Amino acid sequence: MKYIIKTFGCQMNVHESEKLSGMLESLGYTNTDNYNDSDVIVFNTCCIRDGVEQKILGNIGALKKLKKKNPNLIIAICGCMSQADGRADLILKKFPFVDIIFGTHNIHKFKEYVQQKLSTNSKIIDVWEKEEGIFEDVEIKRDNFFSNAWVNINFGCNNFCTYCIVPYVRGRERSRLPQDIINECKQLIAEGYKYITLLGQNVNSYGNDLDDPNINFANLLKDCASLDGDFRIKFMTSHPKDLSEDVVKTIATYPKLSKVIHLPIQSGSNDILKSMNRKYTREHYLELISMIRKHIPNAYISTDIIVGFPGETEKDFLDTYSLIEEVRYDGVFAFMYSRRSGTVADKMENQIDEEVKKDRIHKLLELSKRITKEKNKESIGSNMNVIAIENTSDGYKVMSDSGKTIFVDDSLEPNKFYNIQITKFACNKLFAKLVN
Ligand code: 5AD
Ligand code: SF4
Repeated sequence: MKYIIKTFGCQMNVHESEKLSGMLESLGYTNTDNYNDSDVIVFNTCCIRDGVEQKILGNIGALKKLKKKNPNLIIAICGCMSQADGRADLILKKFPFVDIIFGTHNIHKFKEYVQQKLSTNSKIIDVWEKEEGIFEDVEIKRDNFFSNAWVNINFGCNNFCTYCIVPYVRGRERSRLPQDIINECKQLIAEGYKYITLLGQNVNSYGNDLDDPNINFANLLKDCASLDGDFRIKFMTSHPKDLSEDVVKTIATYPKLSKVIHLPIQSGSNDILKSMNRKYTREHYLELISMIRKHIPNAYISTDIIVGFPGETEKDFLDTYSLIEEVRYDGVFAFMYSRRSGTVADKMENQIDEEVKKDRIHKLLELSKRITKEKNKESIGSNMNVIAIENTSDGYKVMSDSGKTIFVDDSLEPNKFYNIQITKFACNKLFAKLVN
């Protein structure tokens, strides 16, 4: 009995697929990467932009011939796209060969759905309208990708940025209890994981939905970073409106906290930020960046940008461009605005032409490439803490907390942390030597 799970979208989904794997393995299934070989195929879907939805629909269509060849094959579609308004019906209508459809609020029921399908052979369509608390005790089969383990800290989002479908498909914010998170982290450290990435749509609002005022993100970070062992804590994503100086000082103080901060700005124009309902200004954001760099001079700061939001003028775009030049990010993830039905921005007039969006994203990507190259050159002489991965023909490959690969001219022990100094940037690769 074999299974395959294909994940679309973000880290939240990657981790949820680990839970789906855990449930299947507890039923006796084992993982395969061969579609022809599988008894269960799961697509864990995303609906953040239209492009990804179209890709998923194409991928589901391609399963038809597998089902024809093997009528006992179980095909399950779950995640954000199944949860989005009307999509379950659409999938069922377009692809009647799909067996199980469920949403984001009931993934813990997957095991039951498979058992039900096996015993009754009837179709199961179960998309819950609302979130119903947090379900602990779900089996997890972790991927162990570069020794990283994902840990959920809060689910859902209350922000309703006007372009975003997430609050509609993931429900309101719910925080896990600190003790549950800490216990999970302890267990993972004992199992030998070197990175623990705390996950939330907005980690900075962790605890806001719980009564105890001492439960907040800064305290959670302190508790995690005070655990025994050789590991690093990472976290994502931070919302600029909620990132406090207390959190930044905590990150600066504890060596086990990674200095990587993903802080999506979305746009550099105050008019667009207002229309996006982001609840901060360009000026406030720039102050945050200075505050971060004051406390953590070696912080690695990355961002998300949307180009072509309704009404974005050339001047608005130039504001975004100049902001990127001013902040000089270590990483920029730029997206073309995609209309999502049900969101406020979808109903706005002044939707932007696709060609204009393409031109703007191209300009931003060029800018970000140039800055990355400059920063790589400037990094020569700087020190970093990295984890050893494997020996290669370029030297021993190591990885920074931000996922950057660097080559060290020494023999190292895999899966251990080392301090290095960057010595050279050549052929788009960074080289380093060990330091103490
Ligand atoms: N169109 C384009 N990009 C979007 N994002 C969220 N919604 C949309 C949309 N409708 C981007 C934001 C967010 C990232 C995860 O995806 O930049 O930070
Ligand atoms: Fe979407 Fe905004 Fe929530 Fe992020 S904070 S998930 S962009 S609504």
